[in-house]
Amino acid sequence: MIRIEPGNATLGARVTGVDLARSLSEADFAAVLRALGQYGVLCLPNQPIEAAALRTFSARFGGLQAMSSGVKDRGEPGMPEVSILSNIVENGRPIGIPDAGQDWHTDMTYNRVMGFVNVLVAKKVPVRNGKVLGATEFTNTQAAYDDLPAEVKTELADVTATHDWNNFHEIMRRKGSTRPALTEAQRRERPPVSHPVFLTHPVSGRKVIYVNPGFTVKIDGWEDDASRDMLDFLFSHVLKPKYRYAHHWTVGDVLVWDHIGTWHQAVGDYTADEHRLMKRCQVLADKVFDPVFLEMALGAHAPA
Ligand code: SIN
Repeated sequence: MIRIEPGNATLGARVTGVDLARSLSEADFAAVLRALGQYGVLCLPNQPIEAAALRTFSARFGGLQAMSSGVKDRGEPGMPEVSILSNIVENGRPIGIPDAGQDWHTDMTYNRVMGFVNVLVAKKVPVRNGKVLGATEFTNTQAAYDDLPAEVKTELADVTATHDWNNFHEIMRRKGSTRPALTEAQRRERPPVSHPVFLTHPVSGRKVIYVNPGFTVKIDGWEDDASRDMLDFLFSHVLKPKYRYAHHWTVGDVLVWDHIGTWHQAVGDYTADEHRLMKRCQVLADKVFDPVFLEMALGAHAPA
């Protein structure tokens, strides 16, 4: 029997009673999808699955984004949809991306078809003196929307903003990442796109703030200063401690999180000798806005 136990923070629930090495029943998948809209971050403990099962489970939520050309050699061999996130170096070669996601962002807002879900399985987790390092932190953009001043909700109701993949890349480089600058060809692979500043979450039916510090560079049609001030206001609002939650990993955790209603960052508080290894699938929102998919996946629980 599937069990969903919410924690006592703004995000997060624990899901037990399923085995991701086997296919989830439709009823269990519906329960997971509903819980994802409600709690934003789901931990399925004791699921030591390998890349193929990770990919099969992730594909229930939508199409999978393949790794970009610059990091194609940092994935599961033969599976371009499964990235390896790791600081492990073997025979002088990094086996994965060492500093993925180490600042606040929402994955794939730089895509025309935005992101819906990330699914990670923890294979190695750094521990120092009994303390688990390398957490993933989240913030709740549904709760943050609810608390916005009414005049900001009105002012931004029909406004869009531009998201640029290169922006996060440059943030990381300024912080000391050794990743090279994106080439023109790489930037053309994922050119900037616009999305509404507020979205209605397809599963929960609640409004969310859909800008993030990693990729959102401009409110469309606004003067530069006004755009910067509003984005800075939204960024510091969403990052208030009351909207935040941290997941401290255990090997075998599968973490599923909703990109539409959250931001996240990976905490890089471990050294090169303290090994962290995650396998990741990034799922696009190519299905979840489709009423037919939602009706089939959620049945009577689909938002009207
Ligand atoms: C990511 O941003 O997808 C990486 C998160 C993590 O490694 O904790």
